[in-house]
Amino acid sequence: MSTIEFFREGIKNLKTVGTITRSSKFVCKEMTSFIDFSTAKVIVELGAGDGVITKHILRAMRPDAKLVAFEVNAAFCDILREIPDDRLIVAQDSAEKIGEYLRANQLGDQADFILSAIPFVTLPDDLSYRIVETSRDHLAEGGLYIQLHYSTLVKKMYKRVFGNVDVNFVPINIPPAFVLVSEKR
Ligand SMILES: C[S@@+](CC[C@H](N)C(=O)[O-])C[C@H]1O[C@@H](n2cnc3c(N)ncnc32)[C@H](O)[C@@H]1O
Repeated sequence: MSTIEFFREGIKNLKTVGTITRSSKFVCKEMTSFIDFSTAKVIVELGAGDGVITKHILRAMRPDAKLVAFEVNAAFCDILREIPDDRLIVAQDSAEKIGEYLRANQLGDQADFILSAIPFVTLPDDLSYRIVETSRDHLAEGGLYIQLHYSTLVKKMYKRVFGNVDVNFVPINIPPAFVLVSEKR
C-alpha cells in the first residue's frame, strides 16, 4: 500500500486508525527492541495496519515461531495477507478475540509478547479496557505488553491493568511517538 493510500485509509477511518501515517522505522525498531526473539514462540500484534511493524517482527522471528496479527480494517487485511510468510496468521477481527485465535491455531492460551498500535485514545473506554485486560489474560508470566501511542493520555490504563508501565519516547515519527511497556507479573 502506498503512503497516499494509507493516508486515505487513515482519513476515512480516523477514529479506528488513529493516524494518517504508518510508523517510522525508528518506531518499528523501538517496538521490537523489547522482544527476546531467541525464545519467543508466540507473538501477537494488535492493530497491524498494512504491516510495517509486522514485517519487522517477521524478519527477527524464529523459524518455528508464529505471529497472530489482528486488524479490523478490510483494506489493510488484504495487504497483510499478501505477506508471503506462513508463520503469519492474519486475524481480520477485533483484538478482544486473542484467546479464540490462539486456541483455533493450536497455539495454547498465552502469547510470549503482545504488541499493539490500537489507538485507545480515540476508542471508547470500555472497549479499550476490554482489549487490554484480555491481552493481560492471554500473556505468559514475565511476558511484555508493548503499546504504541502518540501521547501518554491513557498511561494510567496500563498501570491499572498490569500494575506497572514504562514510557519510552521516539521523536523521529509523524507524530512523535511513545512506546509504553508493561510486564505481566
Ligand atoms: C495507528 S494504526 C497502526 C498501524 C500500523 N501498525 C503502524 O504502526 O503503522 C492502528 C491500527 O489499529 C487498527 N484497529 C483499531 N481498532 C482495532 C481493534 N479493535 N482490533 C484490531 N485492530 C484495530 C486500525 O484499523 C489501524 O490499522
